[in-house]
Amino acid sequence: MEILKVKDYEEMSKKACSIMIEKMNSLERPVLGMATGSTPEGLYQQLIRAYQEEKVSFKQVSTFNLDEYVGIERENPNSYHYYMKDKLFGHIDLLPENAHLPNGNAADLDLECWEYENKIRNAGQIDLQVVGLGLNGHIGFNEPGTPFSSRTQVINLAESTRKANARFFASLNEVPTQAITMGIDTIMESKQILLLVSGKKKADPLARLLNGEVSEDFPASILHRHPSVLIIADEEACQYVT
Ligand code: F6R
Repeated sequence: MEILKVKDYEEMSKKACSIMIEKMNSLERPVLGMATGSTPEGLYQQLIRAYQEEKVSFKQVSTFNLDEYVGIERENPNSYHYYMKDKLFGHIDLLPENAHLPNGNAADLDLECWEYENKIRNAGQIDLQVVGLGLNGHIGFNEPGTPFSSRTQVINLAESTRKANARFFASLNEVPTQAITMGIDTIMESKQILLLVSGKKKADPLARLLNGEVSEDFPASILHRHPSVLIIADEEACQYVT
């Protein structure tokens, strides 16, 4: 696991963007893993700019998102389908049929999870997966205690995660209680992982990730066992990193 310390959010976003562009331009049919939340928004703005400046095209790219809430329509502004369209997909030349997110409204959620796994496998695995760090160490929505062997599944969101994400909703009551998430083992099969960490709220979890033990109590700790992880973290997030 390698860590690249950068000055601030903007520098983190620009660096992540250049790594993604390099990856896309080096592969015939790149498969990218996407995350939502606040952390990758700047990265997505940079990618849109790079596309507009013709530095990159997404025509041959396929994407797979980490997760989606259960029970929210994809047209709902709080869904991750909406987020991706609004913040990235609606502004680039990615073919709609190549953009994949789990369907949190599927009639059979277990079947949906199984089919999502198959789609990733059929795409030849993820070349570069973008990941954010949950305050409780979650990756995707794999909350503390999730087995490292987990595959794509329906999970119950931790109360702390619902509270952390309530900022996007009108009230805490509206935050879904469940989500579909790629499993930890699914994420670990990505060929390369880019973990983005920004802001002082992430200083504690980042320190725990770097200094703590590998444990299912802190899901991100599994990344120590992946052969190719780059963490890009800004100064605020690195305040306890020596
Ligand atoms: C989002 C996801 C989550 C977030 C994490 C950090 O698709 O899977 O694990 O990456 O909750 O969220 P932010 O970036 O909002 O701090």
